[in-house]
Amino acid sequence: MLLPSSSRHLILLLLLNYVDAGRVLWKIKERARDLQLQDARRHLLGRTVGGHQLLRHVREGRIHQPLDHFNRRDAATFPQRFFVNEAYWQRPDGPVFLFIGGEGPIFQFDVLAGHHVDMAEQHGALLLAVEHRFYGDSINPDGLKTENLADLSSQQALADLAAFHQHISQTFSLSHGNTWISFGGSYSGALSAWFRGKFPHLVFGAVASSAPVKAKLDFSAYNNIVGLSLTNGAVGGSEKCVAVLREAFAAVERTLMGAGNVSQLALDFGCCQIPEDPDDKIELMENLAGIVMGTVQYNEEGVLMSIGELCGLMTNRSEARAAEMGAYGRLVQLAQIYRSTFEEPCLDVSHEKTVKDLMDTSLHSGRRAAARQWTYQTCTEFGFYQTCEDATCPFSGMLTLQTDTRLCPTLFGVSQHALPARVAFTNAYYGGDDPPTHRVLYVNGGIDPWQELSVVRGRTEGDEEAQTVFIKDTAHCADMTTGRATDRCTLRKAREEIENHVTRWLKAAAQQRMGKRQQ
Ligand SMILES: *[C@@H]1O[C@H](CO)[C@@H](O)[C@H](O)[C@H]1NC(C)=O
Ligand SMILES: *[C@@H]1O[C@H](CO)[C@@H](O)[C@H](O)[C@H]1NC(C)=O
Repeated sequence: MLLPSSSRHLILLLLLNYVDAGRVLWKIKERARDLQLQDARRHLLGRTVGGHQLLRHVREGRIHQPLDHFNRRDAATFPQRFFVNEAYWQRPDGPVFLFIGGEGPIFQFDVLAGHHVDMAEQHGALLLAVEHRFYGDSINPDGLKTENLADLSSQQALADLAAFHQHISQTFSLSHGNTWISFGGSYSGALSAWFRGKFPHLVFGAVASSAPVKAKLDFSAYNNIVGLSLTNGAVGGSEKCVAVLREAFAAVERTLMGAGNVSQLALDFGCCQIPEDPDDKIELMENLAGIVMGTVQYNEEGVLMSIGELCGLMTNRSEARAAEMGAYGRLVQLAQIYRSTFEEPCLDVSHEKTVKDLMDTSLHSGRRAAARQWTYQTCTEFGFYQTCEDATCPFSGMLTLQTDTRLCPTLFGVSQHALPARVAFTNAYYGGDDPPTHRVLYVNGGIDPWQELSVVRGRTEGDEEAQTVFIKDTAHCADMTTGRATDRCTLRKAREEIENHVTRWLKAAAQQRMGKRQQ
């Protein structure tokens, strides 16, 4: 079923990405996606008349997928949404570029803008974007209820992709002559790699940007890299910057632990309430850490500030500054900048409210929010808890694995003791960060804390082509957007490398077909 997509999607605002480290990091992620969509829209409409015409080319469709691909006696289904852009497709043999949705809604712009769209234009590809089950519009009305979340998993999502491949092949009369290539970033980057790994007959090559293919319960390395990135001079960091941050977080921690005036602290950071409860104290700490984590993860995306700007604030030696402000005061100022950028009158520190929001199973929140679903996936498949118990972490040891995982039993009845085995199964199933994948290109940024769980230095055996692209000074998923004039030259070079791989894959596929025909 293909329906013209109405333009109201243009103004629909987004949602996406990793939860755990408090709601602040989540909000920063949403805003990063938001800004990217706005950017895409401007870019598109800036293309004069052509842009508006392109918008009209996008169609929205639905496919009814089995809720449980692995229980054939269960006939229940859910509607999975997808977008199609045929504007560049060279019928009948042009390739198919599949953009895989992750932990959030997909948008028309996923088939209208981005590096994969630029490549589709170049290669005459049919563009598809498919939404992940249980996110965005691809969910049944009762889907968020805990008992129904049982059908939310990456394994089911990959089976959805196989069924989707079949559906599209029928609808567009595709054959083996149409070479599929998949794309994704972050969690959906992992799905892109796994789709190729599990269904190599369906997808010829896969680009996996910033893809955490290795599940990890205690993801302490995340904050280790946050610390390293903040010392990285190439992006405006310094040792001093991290030292000041450590000092500031230590001061907050001392006060929260009872050595200072918590009411004053709440006043300083503009908290909505005084964090008296231990859980609220942790919530505050998570949110303050989240500001810094988000700054690093989305460095130079224009979301809040860059690492260079944050470190400028932390280490400003101007006399007026230095006199009036110690490390603590600078962190207070950082929190102020966050609140004013995000137009938040006060900083939320209520753990109870966080839990209440995550327990909400009504879909009015489900269409937009993804935090409940993603939290479920961390509890049952991936872990990914960005803990701070390791000495290398620049924040506070208050952020423990214990506190990060306490939501699993509260929200879903998943015991914390069950987590290690679930994470181990995910790695056994997919191969962790040493998967034997062929024609999967892992792209990572040196500033991105997620690189730890991806394939960064690939094996290149014999004359096999490299399977990794490493961009030393960019953050999370930077390669996925259309190039901008302000891009670092490393990023520009990386996009060229990706283009070369895709071109080679398409050539190889064509040669294989010719070979078969001649046999
Ligand atoms: C703590 O700070 C609040 C707010 O500034 C102030 O009203 C109160 O007197 C302080 N308490 C102590 C014990 O210093
Ligand atoms: C340091 O602080 C001064 C005074 O507030 C300000 O004018 C200057 O721009 C700041 N420098 C940086 C690098 O943030």
